[in-house]
Amino acid sequence: MRASMLSDWLAQRIERTGGLPIYRQLYGLLQQAILSRELPAGTKVPSSRLLASELGLGRNTVTQVYEQLALEGYVWSATGQGTFVSDSAPDEIVGADSAARDAAPAEPRVLSARGARLLQGAGVSQRQGGAFMPGVPDVSRFPAAVWSRLQSKYWRRLPPDLLTYAPGGGLPKLRQVLADYLRTSRSVRCTPDQIIVTTGIHQSIDLAVRLLSDSGDVIWTEDPCYWGVRSVLQVSGLSLKAIPVDAEGINPSADDLADPPKLMLVTPSHQYPLGMVMSLARRRMLLEFARQNGCWIIEDDYDSEFRYGSRPLASLQGLDTAGQVIYVGSFGKTLFPGLRIGYIVVPEGLSTSFATASAELYREGQLLQQAVLAEFIGEGHFTSHIRRMRGLYGQRRQILLDTIRKRYGDALQIAGGDAGLHLVLRLPDGVDDREVAKAALAVNIVVRPLSGYFLRPGEGMSGLLIGYGCVAEEEIEPAFEKLAAVLDPALGSGFRFSTHA
Ligand SMILES: Cc1ncc(COP(=O)(O)O)c(C=O)c1O
Repeated sequence: MRASMLSDWLAQRIERTGGLPIYRQLYGLLQQAILSRELPAGTKVPSSRLLASELGLGRNTVTQVYEQLALEGYVWSATGQGTFVSDSAPDEIVGADSAARDAAPAEPRVLSARGARLLQGAGVSQRQGGAFMPGVPDVSRFPAAVWSRLQSKYWRRLPPDLLTYAPGGGLPKLRQVLADYLRTSRSVRCTPDQIIVTTGIHQSIDLAVRLLSDSGDVIWTEDPCYWGVRSVLQVSGLSLKAIPVDAEGINPSADDLADPPKLMLVTPSHQYPLGMVMSLARRRMLLEFARQNGCWIIEDDYDSEFRYGSRPLASLQGLDTAGQVIYVGSFGKTLFPGLRIGYIVVPEGLSTSFATASAELYREGQLLQQAVLAEFIGEGHFTSHIRRMRGLYGQRRQILLDTIRKRYGDALQIAGGDAGLHLVLRLPDGVDDREVAKAALAVNIVVRPLSGYFLRPGEGMSGLLIGYGCVAEEEIEPAFEKLAAVLDPALGSGFRFSTHA
C-alpha cells in the first residue's frame, strides 16, 4: 500500500461507534499493516497533522500512537524529515518464530550436549503415586488440619520479613529446630549456622558440587545409584566414576583408592536402591581415606527415618571429626515431596559461603512455609507424624512381603526391605526387567527396573523396585497379582519356585 492510501485504508476499518477506543484501534491497525508488510519497511507515513485531519481525529491521538509505535520499534522519526516504517520491526522476528513453532516442535538438536545428555538419562515419571511407585510417601495421611492452622496463623499476621527476599541459609527458627532434630534423631553434629535450607536433596547436591568442585573433577558414586542425583552430577560437568557396592556399602578397589576423587556421594543408612547399611568398618575407612586425601563425602540420608525392626541408624556425619562430610536430607519422604524443603549440613567454616551462594544462585524463598514447618517440628507434630507413618509403612511392607512369598516362595530374592519406602525384587539373570516394567505399566502398575540404576555397562542386575509407601493396604495384594501376571511369562515356563512349607 502506498502511504497516500493509508488514510482511506484506516478510515474503512476504524469503528466510530461501540468499538475499542480510537487510540487502540489506530495503534492496532498500523501495527497490523506494518507486520503484514502492507506498509513496507522504509515507507514514510503521513505526518500526524495530516493523518489526524484526514481521519477527523484529534492530532494528540495520532501523535500518541506514533510515539507508542516508535517506542516499540515499528517506526522511527527523524527531525524535519518525518516518520518511517522501521527495517526490523521487532514482531517480524517474533512472527517468524511463532510460524516455525507452529510448524514443528523444537528439535533436540537445539540442546547443548549437556542438555541432551540430561534428557537422555531422565527418569522422572508422569505418575507419582499408586501401586507400586517407589520413593513416594502416602501424602493422603499428611496432617493437613494442623498445617493449615499454623499456616493461617502466619497469613493472618503477614510478617513482612517472611514475604520479602530471603537472606541466605533459610529461616533461623527452622535451622534451630532442625539442628535439635538432626542431633537427637540422626546423630548429626552441627550448630544451626551449619544448616542451609534448600528445596531438597537435588538442590543441596547441586550447591555442594558447584562450590566444592570444578568441571572435570572426579566424583565417585555408588553403582547402582539414584538416577536423579546422577543427572544433577552429570550436568555439572563432573566426571562420574561408578564404584561397586557390596554387603557393606560402597566398595572401592585398591586401584580406585590409589586415585582419590574430589568428591564421593554415598547413601550409608540405606543404600539406594539396594538397601544395605554401610558397615562401621567401611564408614571408618572412607572417613580416613577422605581425611588423608582431602576428599569431600556427600552423605545422602534420604529416607533413614523409616527403618523397621531397629532404630534409625546414626549418620556418617556424626563420626566425622575432620570436617569432610556434607550431609543432605529432605522432608520429601517424611512430609510430602511437593513441599520442596530440604537441608544441607556443611562443615564449620563453610556455612557463610554456602548460605551466600545459595541466595546468589537460587534466590531462596518459601519463608512462610519454613516458618510453618519450624513450628510444626517445634510443637512435636513432625516426630508424631514420622512415628505414625513408620507404623503404617511397616504394615504395608509386611503385606507386600507376605504377598510376594505367597506367590513366589523363596525363589526370588528380596533386597532392601528393612527400611525406606520400597524393596527390590531380584529377578533371575537374563530376565529383561525393563520389558517387565513396560508390561506392568500397560496394566497400570508402576515399577522401576533395577538395571536402569547401574552406571557400569554390562554390570546391571535384573530386578524390580517395588514401592509400597503410597499403596493402601487392601490394594497391595490385587496390584501384586497384576504385576505377577506380567512377570510370570518373563520368568518363563522353566522357572520353578519353592513355597514355604
Ligand atoms: C536416594 C535419593 N536421594 C534423593 C532423593 C530426592 O530427594 P528430594 O526430593 O529432596 O530432592 C530421592 C528421591 O527419591 C532418593 O531416592
